[in-house]
Amino acid sequence: MTDNASTPRVALVTGTSSGIGEAVVRHFCEQGHQVLAVDFNPAGQEVAERAGAVFFQADLTDGEACKAAVAEALKRFGRIDILVNNAGIQHVAPIEEFPESQWRRIIDLMLTAPFLLTQAAWPSMRENGWGRIINIASVHAQVASPGKAAYISAKHGMIGLTKTAALEGGDQGITANAICPAYVKTPLVDNQIADQARMHGMEEQEVIEKIMLKNAAVKRLIEPSEVAELVAYLASDAAGAVTGASWNMDLGWTAQ
Ligand SMILES: NC(=O)c1ccc[n+]([C@@H]2O[C@H](COP(=O)([O-])OP(=O)(O)OC[C@H]3O[C@@H](n4cnc5c(N)ncnc54)[C@H](O)[C@@H]3O)[C@@H](O)[C@H]2O)c1
Repeated sequence: MTDNASTPRVALVTGTSSGIGEAVVRHFCEQGHQVLAVDFNPAGQEVAERAGAVFFQADLTDGEACKAAVAEALKRFGRIDILVNNAGIQHVAPIEEFPESQWRRIIDLMLTAPFLLTQAAWPSMRENGWGRIINIASVHAQVASPGKAAYISAKHGMIGLTKTAALEGGDQGITANAICPAYVKTPLVDNQIADQARMHGMEEQEVIEKIMLKNAAVKRLIEPSEVAELVAYLASDAAGAVTGASWNMDLGWTAQ
């Protein structure tokens, strides 16, 4: 898929201080794109600079910060061609005990922020007659697991946002697609492995094999770079006919 490198573009990527976002920024920079890397963690500065991107610090649970991030990209680069909504967090608790504050934070970051960023970036894409919106959803946008009510609700909602954007962007050169990965080797998953190992009194390797890969046909975790490759394809000129789709990269989880 790397052969599908498109014309140099301007990309805004969220959640870039580690994991999938970091891999996407690196891949885009290698392709010659100009990238605004947006994260609330100041560690994102060094990560962005190392890749050749520009860092913008913003807590995307704040709607004004979402608009400021888009304004910064427009000020620096004059346009936005590609938006990758990737920032995410996780909180695990049964519905009965799920803290309202965590519910609101997750929905704000993982559903409202992608909406506000899409809305703010849209005029630039429409004016140029070319745009790519790529939403990093999850296998949990397709199926549920207990204990993750807010995450799963946000990710299912993201699919609805993706499809709506695809329909509205169809005659404006704007495509919108979602990627639905199973477990990817990132700090978000490392923390879950450690938590689950403590919770179930298991070794970490046992958690990976017996819990995380229970439904997987391909018995391994996904590399962030594998997700970045798919993002790059969806962001390319070659993917112009692909829109409104949810791309499972789930090791076969939902095939059963
Ligand atoms: N790792 C997986 O197994 C997996 C699977 C499916 C989907 N995803 C999704 O991929 C995306 C990236 O996750 P990851 O695994 O790379 O995790 P990660 O923890 O490595 O990265 C998440 C990024 O989001 C940033 N972030 C968190 N809160 C923020 C806020 N309020 N404002 C701005 N930035 C904020 C973090 O600083 C971090 O850089 C998430 O949306 C996640 O739900 C991950």
